[in-house]
Amino acid sequence: MAGVASSSSSAPSADYDMPWVEKYRPTKVCDIVGNEDAVSRLQVIAHEGNMPNLILSGPPGTGKTTSILALAHELLGSNYREAVLELNASDDRGIDVVRNKIKMFAQKKVTLQPGRHKVVILDEADSMTSGAQQALRRTMEIYSNTTRFALACNTSSKIIEPIQSRCALVRFSRLSDQEILGRLMVVVQAEKVPYVPEGLEAIIFTADGDMRQALNNLQATHSGFHFVNQENVFKVCDQPHPLHVKNMIRNVLEGKFDDACSGLKLLYDLGYSPTDIITTIFRIIKNYDMAEYVKLEFMKETGFAHMRICDGVGSYLQLCGLLAKLATVCKTAKAP
Ligand SMILES: Nc1ncnc2c1ncn2[C@@H]1O[C@H](COP(=O)(O)OP(=O)(O)O)[C@@H](O)[C@H]1O
Ligand SMILES: [Mg+2]
Repeated sequence: MAGVASSSSSAPSADYDMPWVEKYRPTKVCDIVGNEDAVSRLQVIAHEGNMPNLILSGPPGTGKTTSILALAHELLGSNYREAVLELNASDDRGIDVVRNKIKMFAQKKVTLQPGRHKVVILDEADSMTSGAQQALRRTMEIYSNTTRFALACNTSSKIIEPIQSRCALVRFSRLSDQEILGRLMVVVQAEKVPYVPEGLEAIIFTADGDMRQALNNLQATHSGFHFVNQENVFKVCDQPHPLHVKNMIRNVLEGKFDDACSGLKLLYDLGYSPTDIITTIFRIIKNYDMAEYVKLEFMKETGFAHMRICDGVGSYLQLCGLLAKLATVCKTAKAP
């Protein structure tokens, strides 16, 4: 193990192996892309120092963990090591840990600048059992003079209400295509990745607002093919090709139902799961240039089909049924 570490640190291409998501993780709150409201709130806290108990909630890969870490670093600087307790989903965070480890940390004396507090970071807090969360609420209150909590989670409703009411809620949402593109450009230039614009578009399409996925897909495509174009990205990400799905929808709109079905059959036989296919169909419809009243009906039907697939009925017949519904909608939907 030691040999591996030393050889990789001496080689010039050492950071080649480093995941770009880590290499390009912003270290300052102001470098975090998107979610202006949330980020500016955190910036005020970083500036003024009195951190309230926080819950950061939102979809994966939007910068929650990054924000908390950056905020803690900005607040505590060189005291970070002793004044921050970081626990994520891989650590045991059962009731005993809350009773012992967190409480011990809260009782520990650390000399900080006036107005600063020790910080307990509980990443992916929605995976904590409600028992452990119950044990936490008291600790949160008793030691609030010296210790503040920052919780990150995907859905804030999985955090028990008494904790929610003790925290300020900061919501993160999916990043826009533009925001992801901006960040990709930074990385592409820093790593000198050869690319064509359509390749980046494809990455943005597959990432669907998730920056972590976008960076990972970029790196995977780069290390696999050394060139980022549409074809390579879809090979790496292995999602149904959007152009193919788009053709299918166009065939439905033009009344060529048989062609649409054989397109679907092709995808299905390639082994894509119905969930993959239907999420791509939905995204294509969302961006397809068609009359709005048709689009609304299309999205509604796709939503119902997705629900049935989630319920377990993900057969070829189900997807064909969706195409048939869409074809009927084309004929019967009326302009408002
Ligand atoms: N808003 C953002 N701005 C810049 N980079 C981001 C942003 N969100 C995510 N990233 C990138 O994705 C990686 C994972 O982000 P993270 O904060 O861990 O996401 P999560 O919201 O799931 O906790 C980071 O290391 C960073 O490289
Ligand atoms: Mg996280």
